[in-house]
Amino acid sequence: MPVIHILNGPNLNLLGQRQPEIYGHQTLADVEAACRALAPELGLEIGSFAQENGEGALVERIQAARGAARGMVINPAAYSHTSVAVLDALNLFEGKVIEVHISNIHRRETFRHHSFVSSRADGVIAGCGTHGYQLALRQLALLLA
Ligand code: DQA
Repeated sequence: MPVIHILNGPNLNLLGQRQPEIYGHQTLADVEAACRALAPELGLEIGSFAQENGEGALVERIQAARGAARGMVINPAAYSHTSVAVLDALNLFEGKVIEVHISNIHRRETFRHHSFVSSRADGVIAGCGTHGYQLALRQLALLLA
């Protein structure tokens, strides 16, 4: 089974408490449970489900996935809009990458409309709520089949 990693950026540890009108009521633990329930059905093994608040820690996680995972679901959160370092790390990763945003970043402030990560991503899902993670897993399964 292809191993995939699911990686979350800053402030997503507070999912469920954080602006629920934008991000919903599910916690990151709920998202993890839903992903872990779905993955075996799709023939995917979740190598890790992680969250980091720091940019460097996120870069280190992406580097560690090199050679260890065939795909990645990443919600880089605010670093999507600011981080060339996260983009550069993803460019070193050989596997498939699906970028997820819980909210529709294109319907929000203009500074959220651009994501550095999107230029590397094999697919982008935005505005589907936390269900976007499951959609991302389905797409990864197709790409890795
Ligand atoms: C987010 C959107 C980003 O603009 C924001 O900074 C986040 C979460 C989303 O999932 O909708 O932290 O990536």
